[in-house]
Amino acid sequence: DCFPWPGVTRSACEARGCIYTSGDPNQCTFDDGVGTSSNIFYHAEHFFLQVFDTSLGGLVFSDQFIQISTYLNSANLYGFGEHEHHSFKHDMNFVHWPMWAHDETVQTGVNLYGHHPVYMNVEETLDAHMVLILNSNAAEVVTMPAPGLTYRTTGGLLDIYFFLGPQPELAVQQYVSTVGLPMMVPYWSLGYQLCSVGYTTINESKSAVDRMREYDIPHDVHYGDINYMMEYRGFTIDPVNYAGLAEYVEHLKEEGTRFFIIVHPVIWNAGEPGEYLPYERGTEMDIWIKDSQGSYQNGSGWPGSVFFADFTNPKTEEWWGDECVLFKEELDYSGLWINWNEPHSFSLPEPCANNSLNQPIFVPGIIEKGLTFKTICMDNQQYMGKHYDVHSLYGWSMAKQTLPVARRVENNEKRGIVFSRSTFPGAGAWNQHWLGYNEATWEDMRWSIIGIMEFNMFGFPYVGADICGLYEETSAQLCQRWHQLGAFYSLARNHNGGNLPPQDPGYFGEEVAEVIRDVLHIRYTLLPYLYTLMYNAHITGAPVIKPLMFEFDDDAVTLDIDDQFMLGPALLISPVLEENTTSIRAYIPDSRWFSYYDVRRTPSNFDNIANFTQLEAPLDFIPLHVRGGHVLPTQRPANTTVTSRNNPLGLIAALDDAGEARGSLFWDDGEELGSQCCLSV
Ligand SMILES: *[C@@H]1O[C@H](CO)[C@@H](O)[C@H](O)[C@H]1NC(C)=O
Ligand SMILES: *[C@@H]1O[C@H](CO)[C@@H](O)[C@H](O)[C@H]1NC(C)=O
Ligand SMILES: *[C@@H]1O[C@H](CO)[C@@H](O)[C@H](O)[C@H]1NC(C)=O
Ligand SMILES: *[C@@H]1O[C@H](CO)[C@@H](O)[C@H](O)[C@H]1NC(C)=O
Ligand SMILES: *[C@@H]1O[C@H](CO)[C@@H](O)[C@H](O)[C@H]1NC(C)=O
Ligand SMILES: *[C@@H]1O[C@H](CO)[C@@H](O)[C@H](O)[C@H]1NC(C)=O
Repeated sequence: DCFPWPGVTRSACEARGCIYTSGDPNQCTFDDGVGTSSNIFYHAEHFFLQVFDTSLGGLVFSDQFIQISTYLNSANLYGFGEHEHHSFKHDMNFVHWPMWAHDETVQTGVNLYGHHPVYMNVEETLDAHMVLILNSNAAEVVTMPAPGLTYRTTGGLLDIYFFLGPQPELAVQQYVSTVGLPMMVPYWSLGYQLCSVGYTTINESKSAVDRMREYDIPHDVHYGDINYMMEYRGFTIDPVNYAGLAEYVEHLKEEGTRFFIIVHPVIWNAGEPGEYLPYERGTEMDIWIKDSQGSYQNGSGWPGSVFFADFTNPKTEEWWGDECVLFKEELDYSGLWINWNEPHSFSLPEPCANNSLNQPIFVPGIIEKGLTFKTICMDNQQYMGKHYDVHSLYGWSMAKQTLPVARRVENNEKRGIVFSRSTFPGAGAWNQHWLGYNEATWEDMRWSIIGIMEFNMFGFPYVGADICGLYEETSAQLCQRWHQLGAFYSLARNHNGGNLPPQDPGYFGEEVAEVIRDVLHIRYTLLPYLYTLMYNAHITGAPVIKPLMFEFDDDAVTLDIDDQFMLGPALLISPVLEENTTSIRAYIPDSRWFSYYDVRRTPSNFDNIANFTQLEAPLDFIPLHVRGGHVLPTQRPANTTVTSRNNPLGLIAALDDAGEARGSLFWDDGEELGSQCCLSV
């Protein structure tokens, strides 16, 4: 605020951190480190107008409707979630993006599971800043070609945070370390994971595992999706279709494969007395969400009639923890996948009352234009407030209570792991994320890169899309290409839907299985590098998977690139995203690059010329480039991390033009709680 107002005194000027030039009452200037400048307009613009400029007008601040608009410095706008975005950089031509936690098949234009009112603007100068509007009410943002944006919400307040970068990656670190640094994930959770809704019996699950063994595919995590439960009731095992599950899980663990379970926050409430104890114990503790009359709110979930645990109530953690501990005694699971936590209800036995919370006058452009669509009533009462205000915090509150529980079931000796469908700023400290219910299409594979880069920006560096696609039947070629891409997701999970042919790597026969095994071996080779990146994210908030523009932030061409990405600072991934394609046009930023596959022999021929180039990518190959100047720690791959961690370590040193390279390695026992906090950085 250095301003040459007439008669300014030295003390008033200096109180603003400006420089007073004696003898000239109009001089109150700023020293930007380069030299004192009297160009106050430059400084005013640089420090204020570029970040937020509400002179666009349109501010409304009223009960149940708040609106604010701002000019943006440039049309380089990124972020907001959770959506399926078709480009990483936003279309500024009046596009609406609703935000409100909601369970829906991944599709464009609709509000999905998480709620992230946060964006990045990369300025004309290529400096970047992020802005968080910390508000959990139903909202929408509308882009404008000005360039600008309008944000509207149904309540709360305007609590706006600015993170001034000035590099994109620094802005992300500032944002993430403010809302909550991400949890440290166990080493084994970086291994390959296999899951299917289609395992209706334990035998189908075993057949998929047998194919994994037959083709020697690395396999660190296997899953119980909804079918392991008896009639989908939480904390039960189907005694017929999944007879022998506990023993099988033990057997898998001996082979080095851990078991992850899906758990829902909705609890079956329609049994006879004594029939379903998790429900009875919860009722005793009075931890269910209540309707406006004070009765428990009924909903409809997988097990039928249900109540919803209120995770904003501190008492709920005790109930939730006790149930998880009891179940752990029955089944030795290693991770919790929390789902259904928007929260979702298929329907309600009675419609929500017509009042100003359930039917407010202004509803943002969310799906079905209804706050109560496929969820509970807005006038429901939770410990923390009306559901109207805390709806999008349901997953956040569940995560906050579930990570301590995941640790409690391991006697607080292991760090545990949780990932969740619904998320909110700050939840990354307790859970990570997968991108939800996608489809087996080439487009969904392409757009997964955007979602993953966004969630890394939001503070969820452990993230992946369902490899091969969840809904619809995949094809061998798509599944193979998706594994080549997914091998470089931080969360690499193949997840299939129900009533579909299998899509585990072994299902497609030897040729496909071999390609998948090879690329997973590259992943396992690089796990020490990936683990070090996860550690770095945990202590600094830095993204693990990121757009090229974060690493090459002085190259404006990278602002539009979202079909390639960086794994950390040193590995460039250029996946094939189209069917029947064996050559791709890829951007190679200015650096020294080496093909991953022959890194020790030949530097590639496009060093130091930022340009697009055509890369050969036959079906069994994904272009990977190591960046000069970096050292990547490696380890000889194996069928699980249990065995790979006993193998020799190695280093890939890719030299820069000066003949130098640097890197780091974080190493510990991979799962101990606390080890990661005690080493100096
Ligand atoms: C699984 O296969 C075994 C051996 O063939 C059989 O005894 C068992 O009934 C099958 N279980 C289910 C749930 O189909
Ligand atoms: C991995 O290999 C080891 C040693 O050969 C074996 O004992 C183990 O069962 C294998 N595990 C998997 C998941 O294939
Ligand atoms: C809600 O569920 C409880 C427990 O199953 C049941 O007693 C009650 O009648 C249900 N209420 C409504 C409105 O469906
Ligand atoms: C709810 O009430 C308002 C005002 O009383 C009325 O205009 C509106 O049509 C009602 N909506 C529904 C869905 O019944
Ligand atoms: C890819 O090739 C297959 C087999 O020739 C063909 O059926 C399919 O339509 C092709 N897909 C595209 C997108 O060209
Ligand atoms: C970039 O590649 C294009 C097409 O191959 C070529 O015409 C152009 O000269 C290249 N630009 C630079 C700076 O090398």
